[in-house]
Amino acid sequence: MAYPDFNMDHQWLPFTPNRSFKKEPRVFVAADGMFFTTHDGKQVLDGISSLWCVAAGHNRKPINEAIKKQLDTLDYATAFQASNDQAFQAAEMIADMAPGDLNQVLFCNSGSEAADTSLKVALAYHRARGEGHRNVFIGREKGYHGVGFGGMSVGGIPANRKVYGAALLPRVDHLRFIHDPLKHAYIHGVEPVWEEDLLLELENRILPLHDPSNIAAVIVEPVAGSAGWYLPPKGYLKRLREICDKHGILLIFDEVITGFGRLGTNFGADYYGVVPDMLNFAKCVTNGVIPLGGVICTDRIYNTMMDASAGGPEHAIEFFHGYTYSGHPVACAAAMATLTLFKEEKLFERAGQMGGVLGDAVHSAFKGLPNVIGIRSLGLAAAVELSSIAGSPGKRAYDIFMDCFRNGVLVRPAGENIVICPPYIVEKEHVERIVSVVADAIRKNV
Ligand SMILES: Cc1ncc(COP(=O)(O)O)c(C=O)c1O
Repeated sequence: MAYPDFNMDHQWLPFTPNRSFKKEPRVFVAADGMFFTTHDGKQVLDGISSLWCVAAGHNRKPINEAIKKQLDTLDYATAFQASNDQAFQAAEMIADMAPGDLNQVLFCNSGSEAADTSLKVALAYHRARGEGHRNVFIGREKGYHGVGFGGMSVGGIPANRKVYGAALLPRVDHLRFIHDPLKHAYIHGVEPVWEEDLLLELENRILPLHDPSNIAAVIVEPVAGSAGWYLPPKGYLKRLREICDKHGILLIFDEVITGFGRLGTNFGADYYGVVPDMLNFAKCVTNGVIPLGGVICTDRIYNTMMDASAGGPEHAIEFFHGYTYSGHPVACAAAMATLTLFKEEKLFERAGQMGGVLGDAVHSAFKGLPNVIGIRSLGLAAAVELSSIAGSPGKRAYDIFMDCFRNGVLVRPAGENIVICPPYIVEKEHVERIVSVVADAIRKNV
């Protein structure tokens, strides 16, 4: 298929059904504030912050200006055996925002790289302490940690794993999923209370099976984002922290989605009052404008790695890991402008407030519509879950997504869910528009 000014024969689209896309393409050519302009001149409301990234809305001048200025000053500098001023300054800003002694930022370029980086730090840290046998990782069913082999292995979305077989890391186990579709189908801004202790399985089965002394790290998203916005049970993350502490296991929070304001706080760690040993971020840190990710490690992890090399030669590298573009000066300049903008416009508080508006709207508009079997909202994000069409998993959500797009609203299909997570600048009228277009699409696609 070809438009007059370009053809579509050479881009293989990621996480997209390419054949159907080419029959009905969705091509953006411009964006401003809450809206995209498509190639055929339509306005589309961005109901998903462009995949959880564009928290401050599109085309923000302070970010654009910072990038332009940085390009004219220091475009790029090698990240190995040297660095740049922007990377140090951005790292300081990020460390200042992070809770506890999460003070050491290892930059990378994406959430997938952050996941693999954090797993590698865990192995290296334990080895530096003389516990190199700790090499088992524990993820969670339906977790998403990107598409690298490490992240995929600890991840728990079956479709992302099924064709990679033996290439997945061998020493990995998974916690149970955190959702009860009967008791907690409808959740509005509160932590689901479980009668059952979901983490007993970790203590009574998973840890004894591998022996706790062999376990390097547990990695979880505070709220399961990509699977469809599933909330942890009340007290779950605190208890997970306690269990990890008891056994010397590192706790990694993958905050690629919950980081930088989505829950109305700096991080999910702040929202739940639990400080992990490593915190992975990406997406909102640059408002999506330029790729940047990272892992914020505790001082303890960093110091252990440094101390382990203390007696060795000065020229010896302490951690054999990094990316050509780690701490890219333009990305770091974009991050600082973004984080400053978040503060100046109090956008995290706004996300918290507008989250209430979104939550109220989705619960009142979707409950009782055909095929709706659950609605979950927390912070500025919500998901409506639909019953699966027998033999065609995911089709109903996909059809609804397509219908919404045709009607000028971008939402996200995630399994059987439609997810809504607009930029923090969203207004009530945008929320109403998104919700009414989704509700119409749900009614139509019975
Ligand atoms: C929690 C989490 N981790 C990792 C990733 C992967 O990030 P990326 O696509 O930037 O590699 C994502 C992406 O959505 C994510 O939600």
